[in-house]
Amino acid sequence: MTKEKTPTPKKPQLLITGGAGYIGSHMCVESLQAGYDVVVLDNLSNSSPKSLAAVERITQKQLTFIEGDIRDDAKLKEVFSKHQFDAVVHFAGLKAVGESNSEPLKYYDNNVHGTLRLLEAMAEHDVKTLVFSSSATVYGMPEQMPIREDFPTGAINPYGKTKLNVEVILQDLYASDPSWRIGMLRYFNPVGAHASGEIGEDPSDIPNNLMPYVSQVAVGRLKELSIFGNDYDTHDGTGVRDYIHVVDLVQGHLKALEFLATKPQLSVHNLGTGTGYSVLDIVQAFEKASGTPIPYKMAPRREGDAAKSYADPAKAKNELGWTAQYDLERMCADVWRWQSQHPNGYSE
Ligand code: NAD
Ligand code: UD1
Repeated sequence: MTKEKTPTPKKPQLLITGGAGYIGSHMCVESLQAGYDVVVLDNLSNSSPKSLAAVERITQKQLTFIEGDIRDDAKLKEVFSKHQFDAVVHFAGLKAVGESNSEPLKYYDNNVHGTLRLLEAMAEHDVKTLVFSSSATVYGMPEQMPIREDFPTGAINPYGKTKLNVEVILQDLYASDPSWRIGMLRYFNPVGAHASGEIGEDPSDIPNNLMPYVSQVAVGRLKELSIFGNDYDTHDGTGVRDYIHVVDLVQGHLKALEFLATKPQLSVHNLGTGTGYSVLDIVQAFEKASGTPIPYKMAPRREGDAAKSYADPAKAKNELGWTAQYDLERMCADVWRWQSQHPNGYSE
């Protein structure tokens, strides 16, 4: 008797733009492990293909990497004609706030125009499921904590405005064609690294953000941390933020994809833990995780910084069934594993 062969069901396929970057590479790991086929489109403007080789080592699975720019219509046409994507997870973009002040056009071109090109290609190829990397920066300087999704928006720098512009574009797109499935995820402060220590954050310049700065001080690449302000209205006077482990963050994307699969919609969710930690809390936790003292000095406030920013993550919990799992100790331990094993990031 010959047994009838059951055809293997096709794996759902994701296009991950910016997949070689910090958050994108972690998304690749978790998506491959969750059973997706993954195609990465990245122009490597702020990343190394070594992150993708590490993703394949961690998962023992293969992905497809296409080096290209989301602003390149011909490239997009090629990519969308060759693959039948079930959804796009869109990380590609520029993210340095200071640089966005000095080079706003570069930011609008990359983040807004780039997203428009991507949306055109998606519409043309009838791929209408998108998860977009937005940011808590769209809340500007909120007066009240914790921050809910229905709080007023108002970005205060060009980077934040590009995120807000894209959110507005997505709202108009959905209003014009409610068959789209769009999830806008507002990240709080992503930190941490994969537990293997094989992938992590690798800023190409001196870090602007706290956690990579602290970890580079710990590993001896930088001399000391400057703490931007110790006279805020917080428990110890230093700025308070909602740090979230990058693996928790990307798990939120997988939950958002499941949520979008239930029906066409446009949704917005905060991805944060709901807990705020100060700069000094981070220094202390990192010293403990690394066993290394972090020298620091007090410095003036950084322009545009809020005293406090932390999420109300209830909407993501109720609608996506998602809650952050990892605590600050684990975030610091994972950053330290990555940083101590790769003192110079991917450029060793
Ligand atoms: P990242 O710079 O590590 O990753 C972005 C990736 O996109 C890089 O690999 C870069 O080479 C690629 N890229 C940039 N422009 C491109 C283009 N035009 N075409 C193709 N590829 C392009 O940054 P990240 O921290 O992983 O952030 C990912 C996304 O999340 C960004 O959109 C960022 O604005 C957003 N976000 C990040 C944070 C954060 O703190 N890391 C917070 C909120 C939102
Ligand atoms: C920054 C971005 C914001 C982005 C967010 C998440 C700015 C002005 N804002 O905000 O748009 O959404 O990252 O990626 O860049 N700090 C120090 N010393 C340092 C670095 C930071 O004291 O060398 C302090 C800051 O003042 C702040 C805290 O550490 O209180 C966290 O800073 P950072 O990691 O840059 O994140 P955000 O300020 O939330």
